[in-house]
Amino acid sequence: MKSNYVNPNSHAWADRLWFLIKKIAFGLSQPVIEVVYGIWKDTIFYWPILTWGVIFDILVLSGLDQMIFNWLRLYWLYPKNPITYTFYAFFGATMGFWIWGAIQARRKVNMIERLTQVFVESGLKSPMGKLPSFIEDRPVDELVRKLKITNAFMPKAKFEEAKERLESSLQVYIDEITESRSSGTIDILYSHYEIARMVEAENISLIGPHKFFIGQTRAKPIYSSLIETPHLLIGGQTGGGKSTFLRQLVTTFYTNNPSYKFSLIDMKGGLEFQIFEGIPRATVYSTFDDAKKLFEELDNMLTERMKILKFNTSKDIEAFNMIPLTERKRPDDVSDESMDIQRHVTVIDEAAELFLASAKSNISDVQALSRRAIRIAAQGRAVGLHLIVATQKPDSKAINSQIKANLTGIISFPMATLGASFSILGNGRAKELPAIPGRAIWKNGLEQFEVQTPFLNPHDTKCLLDKIKKDTPNG
Ligand SMILES: Nc1ncnc2c1ncn2[C@@H]1O[C@H](COP(=O)(O)OP(=O)(O)OP(=O)(O)O)[C@@H](O)[C@H]1O
Ligand SMILES: [Mg+2]
Repeated sequence: MKSNYVNPNSHAWADRLWFLIKKIAFGLSQPVIEVVYGIWKDTIFYWPILTWGVIFDILVLSGLDQMIFNWLRLYWLYPKNPITYTFYAFFGATMGFWIWGAIQARRKVNMIERLTQVFVESGLKSPMGKLPSFIEDRPVDELVRKLKITNAFMPKAKFEEAKERLESSLQVYIDEITESRSSGTIDILYSHYEIARMVEAENISLIGPHKFFIGQTRAKPIYSSLIETPHLLIGGQTGGGKSTFLRQLVTTFYTNNPSYKFSLIDMKGGLEFQIFEGIPRATVYSTFDDAKKLFEELDNMLTERMKILKFNTSKDIEAFNMIPLTERKRPDDVSDESMDIQRHVTVIDEAAELFLASAKSNISDVQALSRRAIRIAAQGRAVGLHLIVATQKPDSKAINSQIKANLTGIISFPMATLGASFSILGNGRAKELPAIPGRAIWKNGLEQFEVQTPFLNPHDTKCLLDKIKKDTPNG
């Protein structure tokens, strides 16, 4: 009779063998995978590796390699038959690659061990006690890598809670944590390099038309333009760097676009924009009544410009300005606006002071002003009316949600609460920002980066603007 009895020891033996095979396969494949990624993403250090290859080939061709083996009394190790010699020549010449791959693979194994430790210490496990497991860790570019792990049936928020612990344990800076629900994975974008704590705004007058410098990420400077991003929202708690950024932005636009006009509203008594007072093409507003009048003018300007563009069958200001000045047609009911239409940038610092009724304003005036601002945010782009709004409070009470929906370029400096961060970015990243003046998150559509915003030395700005004032007749 056939016995159903299975010797448990034979199982254990087979398991051990299988475990060993897997370990060897993993150990051998990892350096190769790292080398392939290294070549693909161009993160490999070619110079030392190729230099070694050349030295090895010289040794082999001159027969010096065999002499070295003999001298070390390792002549018995020198390959004798053609097959082992081919292996020796190939691996000898490409040794640099395999050493580099092995170092990277070792780093990865260390990371897996430390990750597991952080998961255990942070209680990052599913209700069934399952820990997230490692899938891959690969370079994105020279400075940033992406770690992919399974989510172990846990939401992204759980990983975000453990972010600081992950950073300190892995000795990295985490840029972003994203999740793919369909594949049940979490991607962690990280780097070993810190973002610069100070980025000087240099040569701003050479940036070019419509463009502006947002800041420096870990890897590169980022720019945008009023063509791509017609309206901006700038948020952040006190001291984050909003007014500093606005001054740099206005100075950049001013010096690169001789046709731009500016309306600068600052309800803190005009102090933040004082340096722009008296320069041509710019007006500083510091009372509610003046701002109210400005928005009435902007509203009329919007109406007239739209009529002009329609009458000239131009889809936007760019198209209209292509028509020679003498060939532009004026509609009968347009009187005020000249046919020379230029971009007009309205900047509001501390917008809550303007959009929330206070002792200085009454509700109906505030509502009328808000309605006009909504119209400019929704329709201003095509006719060259741009809105840049800075606020400590990005909630819908301070900034109407219809205005906010059209301020598509967002720069958020650190926020004090998770709620404020969600209200401006739709996520908690502004709450997690380090308290470094000028550090912010730039968000434009799906694009999102941590940046150090440029610092324009106030003395340099003043000198530049004073020179403009001096050079302008009656300035
Ligand atoms: N990009 C930057 N780089 C370095 N330092 C900066 C930067 N931006 C701001 N700072 C520093 O932080 C200080 C506060 O900045 P700022 O006045 O612009 O903040 P804010 O967000 O406008 O604050 P508030 O809401 O109180 O008006 C500035 O005095 C400046 O020295
Ligand atoms: Mg300010």
